[in-house]
Amino acid sequence: MNDLLLKQSNNSAKIEVFATAQAASEAVADRILATVRSNPKAVLGLATGQTPRRVYAKLVDAVKNGQISFSEATTFNLDEYCGLSASHADSFAAYMQRELFAATDFDGDKINLIDGAAPDMHAEAKRYAQLLAASQIDLQLLGIGTNGHIGFNEPGSSSDSRVRIVELSEETLNANQPTLIELEEVPGKAITMGIADILGAREIIILATGAAKAEAMRRSIEDLPHAACPASYLSSHGNVHWFLDADSAALLSK
Ligand code: PGA
Repeated sequence: MNDLLLKQSNNSAKIEVFATAQAASEAVADRILATVRSNPKAVLGLATGQTPRRVYAKLVDAVKNGQISFSEATTFNLDEYCGLSASHADSFAAYMQRELFAATDFDGDKINLIDGAAPDMHAEAKRYAQLLAASQIDLQLLGIGTNGHIGFNEPGSSSDSRVRIVELSEETLNANQPTLIELEEVPGKAITMGIADILGAREIIILATGAAKAEAMRRSIEDLPHAACPASYLSSHGNVHWFLDADSAALLSK
């Protein structure tokens, strides 16, 4: 692959650096496609945000071109804002419909999303935790926040955290503001899968693109696991694959 600049692996982590965000995203999409080809019933953990949009675009193309079917796959999304229903354009449920589900053949009965407008959010977190506990995620896709968050596990999250309601940090509120479609303010709370839920996946793939993620990448990959940078917990997992573009990898020591 011409765009692959660097490939490095140790016992537990594989790191691949690509020239462009597009090339890194395509490599992630290829990994998801390979997983579902070898196991059509794969359970996928899915992420939202700007980063995975190119990945989902490639999955949509693959379905349109008849290269894959997702009809037997199961999905679990990482998180959702508290207070937003699936019909709200700024909900992650609506994002998933726009970016992936509406244009592919995922079976609605096998799509698991958090209901951001549930009447009792504690009960909703418990419902989602039970669904996850009864499942085994085969492949978890992650983005990363500039503060090192994964899902909405903000700095300070513990490695044994599970699905729960969280307060979003100032940095996350600011980072997510430009992505809002209709809302004037980012909701201050969310429900997220916990770190322990994420680490329970058989395989984790994390995609980071852009210079804004470079410092978070350095801390995640080179620092010891620490609550101050939740993505650093990933180094305790045996099967993590980092897909970076050159900009997000710029601060890594070789
Ligand atoms: P982004 O968000 O892809 O929009 O940068 C990533 C994240 O917050 O996990």
